[in-house]
Amino acid sequence: MKNDAQKARALAQGQEAVVTVRRGSPGEAVRYQEFRVPYEPGMSILDALMWIRRYGDSTLAFRYSCINANACKECTALVDGKVAYLCTERLKPGGVTLEPLPKRRWIRDLVTDIVSPEERLGAAQRKEGETP
Ligand code: FES
Repeated sequence: MKNDAQKARALAQGQEAVVTVRRGSPGEAVRYQEFRVPYEPGMSILDALMWIRRYGDSTLAFRYSCINANACKECTALVDGKVAYLCTERLKPGGVTLEPLPKRRWIRDLVTDIVSPEERLGAAQRKEGETP
């Protein structure tokens, strides 16, 4: 993987991919925003998102934890309409479109609620109050 200066040079040389991201939060009109990122064969989509957050838009919301271990599943999102892990899915030279998971409660940008309904505090408190 290239360091940041090498990536910036790659961008300046025109080796880039377009990452289109569904942005916003509930109650707002749906909008898609395009970001041009330096492209390197083998880089992950999560690499591209981290580059965007660092150099393009620090407000871009996405979630990750383990990075490449496929253990946390926090980075799950739709990549060109298919469910994928952003940390292991490779960025295509032609670019990708990213959207939040459709069957989860949407929080902002690519972040959805990953806690199952039974594990939420309110549900746990209700369970505690139940009589056996
Ligand atoms: S960051 Fe954990 S599976 Fe992708």
